[in-house]
Amino acid sequence: MRPTLKSGVTYSHNEPPDASQLLGLFHQAPWAKARSLDDAKEMLRHTDLTLCAWQGERLIGFGRVLTDFVYRATIWDVIVDRTYQGQGVGTEIVRRILDHPRLNRVELFWLCTRRPGFYEKLGFSAKEQIGMVWSRSRNSHLE
Ligand SMILES: CC(C)(COP(=O)(O)OP(=O)(O)OC[C@H]1O[C@@H](n2cnc3c(N)ncnc32)[C@H](O)[C@@H]1OP(=O)(O)O)[C@@H](O)C(=O)NCCC(=O)NCCS
Repeated sequence: MRPTLKSGVTYSHNEPPDASQLLGLFHQAPWAKARSLDDAKEMLRHTDLTLCAWQGERLIGFGRVLTDFVYRATIWDVIVDRTYQGQGVGTEIVRRILDHPRLNRVELFWLCTRRPGFYEKLGFSAKEQIGMVWSRSRNSHLE
């Protein structure tokens, strides 16, 4: 069941989206445009929670969570179709993740972003912790 909002955009969290629709979104983002269908399917199989935004049957926004449901949750791949950006869809996706009943025991949400301004408006802070990443492609010379 997808409740309708005034903009006509609806949100769902019960089932993962079709991987091929999701790739359509991923291919709009520089950090995800090389992703393959097989990898996206595998990723969805192992993701704890997905949040989708829809315009009719069209997937227009996405975000996902990996978590232990108690101490930590990480938010990944928040993306809104470029024709729908700036209309509050990204904010709604993140809010629905933070307010999700299955995540209401989680002590700390963490994410890695190139868009800190967007997340600061939602209450995220970069001040308390330093995020570090290890990239397989960038470190291949060490192997
Ligand atoms: C970043 C993104 C998810 C935001 O979604 P959106 O639906 O466009 O955002 P909203 O309309 O909910 O914007 C909410 C607020 O954040 C601001 N905002 C949006 N994108 C921003 C950005 N890149 N930097 C700073 N602020 C931003 C908006 O101006 C708005 O502020 P306001 O409420 O004062 O008007 C979306 O633009 C996107 O998919 N971008 C490309 C993919 C990407 O970079 N994802 C982030 C991965 S970490």
